[in-house]
Amino acid sequence: MKREALQQTPEGRRGFFRRMTAFAVSVIGLGLAVPLAGYVVSPALKRREGQWTDIGPVDRLPDGEPAQLEYVTTARDGYMESRIRKAVWAVKQGEGGVTVYAPMCTHLGCGYTWDPVDRRFECPCHLSKFSISGEVLGGPAPRPLDRLPSKVENGRLLIVYKEFKAGLPRQVEL
Ligand code: FES
Repeated sequence: MKREALQQTPEGRRGFFRRMTAFAVSVIGLGLAVPLAGYVVSPALKRREGQWTDIGPVDRLPDGEPAQLEYVTTARDGYMESRIRKAVWAVKQGEGGVTVYAPMCTHLGCGYTWDPVDRRFECPCHLSKFSISGEVLGGPAPRPLDRLPSKVENGRLLIVYKEFKAGLPRQVEL
């Protein structure tokens, strides 16, 4: 009775319409905010997902001899897309599959090379050395070479490229 009386006055009607307008604006705002938040956040989340990349025929790899494989891939950072050149090290073990290493030394991230005479990976920056299976043989590297997920499908080598923090004794993905 009192409420009805309030709504009958100009003050009461104004307050009622103000509250109704605020409620309607809130509902519309929420209806727009939820899909918009998903639209904004999902590319950032997708960036973290691994993506299999075909880096070429596996039969071009020599058995038991590391090969540096270069390939061009599309990198997505949120909404930005760019073509970038990458390289990884791959070692084919006969019919036993392929091991793929990230191209950065685990000490401070320099690129390393394969020494075919001493049969070990060597980093020129601070002289870390790694065996063909990635184990540290010497130098300041705190952990073995970082292995990347890889598989062979229809004669093609597929990898998931990842980067890891350098200088740590355990792998921490960037
Ligand atoms: S970055 Fe490779 S040994 Fe330091």
